[in-house]
Amino acid sequence: MCGIVGYVGDKKAISKIMTGLRSLEYRGYDSAGIAYIKDGIVKIIKREGPIDNLDKKLNYDEVTNIGISHTRWSTHGVANDINSHPHRQGKITIVHNGIIENYESLKKNLTSLGYIFKSNTDTEVASALIDNLYKETGDMLLAINKASGMLEGSYAFNIINDDYPDTVFGTRKDSPLIVGVGQNENILASDIPAILHITNKYVVLNNYDVVVMKKDKLTFYNKDNEEVQKDIREFLDSPEVISKNGYEHYMLKEINEQAEIVKKLLKLYTEGNKVTLSFDLKKYKTIDIVACGSASFAGQLGKFYIEKFLDIPTSVTFASEYRYQKNFFDKDKLVILISQSGETADTLAVLKLAKENNVDTLAIVNRKDSSIAREADNVIYTEAGIEISVATTKAYLAQVIVLLLLAIRENENESKILDDLKILPNLITKEINDYDYELLAKLFYKKENVFYLGRGVDYFLAMEGSLKLKEISYIHSEAFAAGELKHGSISLVDENFGIIAVVTDKNIGNKTISNLKEVSARNAKILTITNIKDETFSDYKIEIDDISDILNPLLAIVPMQLIAYNIAKLKKCNIDKPRNLAKSVTVE
Ligand code: AGP
Repeated sequence: MCGIVGYVGDKKAISKIMTGLRSLEYRGYDSAGIAYIKDGIVKIIKREGPIDNLDKKLNYDEVTNIGISHTRWSTHGVANDINSHPHRQGKITIVHNGIIENYESLKKNLTSLGYIFKSNTDTEVASALIDNLYKETGDMLLAINKASGMLEGSYAFNIINDDYPDTVFGTRKDSPLIVGVGQNENILASDIPAILHITNKYVVLNNYDVVVMKKDKLTFYNKDNEEVQKDIREFLDSPEVISKNGYEHYMLKEINEQAEIVKKLLKLYTEGNKVTLSFDLKKYKTIDIVACGSASFAGQLGKFYIEKFLDIPTSVTFASEYRYQKNFFDKDKLVILISQSGETADTLAVLKLAKENNVDTLAIVNRKDSSIAREADNVIYTEAGIEISVATTKAYLAQVIVLLLLAIRENENESKILDDLKILPNLITKEINDYDYELLAKLFYKKENVFYLGRGVDYFLAMEGSLKLKEISYIHSEAFAAGELKHGSISLVDENFGIIAVVTDKNIGNKTISNLKEVSARNAKILTITNIKDETFSDYKIEIDDISDILNPLLAIVPMQLIAYNIAKLKKCNIDKPRNLAKSVTVE
């Protein structure tokens, strides 16, 4: 949620900053802004709308070697020019990713001290707070650390101070911030893609770390104002990983990467038909899987696999619910957190809650160095590479595969399932090529409502298919346990309704088919994704291969992704950056 980039280096700072900022647009894209120092004067330019709107207002020939910038996903105050970042009070100009929860009481105090606020944002309050503390202490480090002690919520800040025209200051709590270490230039950003045009070397800031960033010097401090040393890490993938590689959209590129990701996971986490992951789920009597959105739907498939192979009662709960519900923690419980970004605020909060209650935690995370990866007792990486499209595809599939591997580890069927898994990549490639998804999408793209139906594991798949469709095509869609429809919601179904059914589980497939006949009798048109040959219950069909009850669900995922993608494309939606969303949800 929101991307920030600060830079100190050569004269072409605006161009360096904007290249970084564009690569973070996936984190928020309802307004953008930049502040830079020219001849000792701070200039701020900000615009509502995507980064392109800001871009049109910039003069790239302007000579400046320092600046901070922001791409926004609004939290406090609508998306307009005034609420866009940077915000400035006194000598302090700031950009912020996160939410200041106690900004109203701070604002009251600061107003009584004479500060006048122009925007509705929490961020402007943070700039006034730091300005006031700087006035009191005359020392930026003290001011930042004192402010951290007073701010509640989450933040990553890039800050410039009129008195330090050669320095960008940064600090964070519960929102990510890394420092790209260049040669005679340094860059301070929310995520790795934003630094790769300058360097692949970076430092990860921990909560409450402060960085004082100059062109040729980086100094790090802790919250007690003591200087600390930080490790420099290296991002070893090629910068190609953040390009579209010839695909029209990141989402399509990422869908196409899935076959390779399955191969990669098999290579990394298995050997000679044995799972090599050392984490043993069997130690636990109960498992709580906690995640948000698609990651929680991957968790549902994980529950299916864990209960099937390990007989361990497993619950799956949205992190936003779990953190406030009554939980039964004991030493025999494991809490599994699943997250692509590793920064999702609710999931991170549950991790902290579990740790406070001395419960073992396992994080299944895609992004290395992310907060969840660093804070969990145990981590398994999903190794899907950087995912840019807001709608997750490859990271979701990788989460499911990791959960499957954990569940079948040391099971009597392990070898057979791994053999089957080896053919999955080819089947994924085949199903990407076998169907004219655009043609199928034409049947649905004018619908206003779509139900995704399934039973058991197919219902879990339906949840993911439905989310994919609604988030990128804006068609209202819901997933239903097929048997539940007639208890109320079938009253909505008529000839204008779209039905997408998933039938991979042959044990209860016939039951789903009966439910499909019920909607068909209400004249709704049905598209079914199934491995049942010669079926006659649907109007249109995507026939997937039939490997086994365990792996067939994995084959239903890719067609669902491609249907959603093609519908969104026909509707000319902004596929990689759907409205109102952001890739990394760092607010509650
Ligand atoms: C899915 O396409 C989403 N954009 C969203 O539901 C996502 O899975 C969710 O926000 C969780 O994110 P995380 O995996 O980074 O924690």
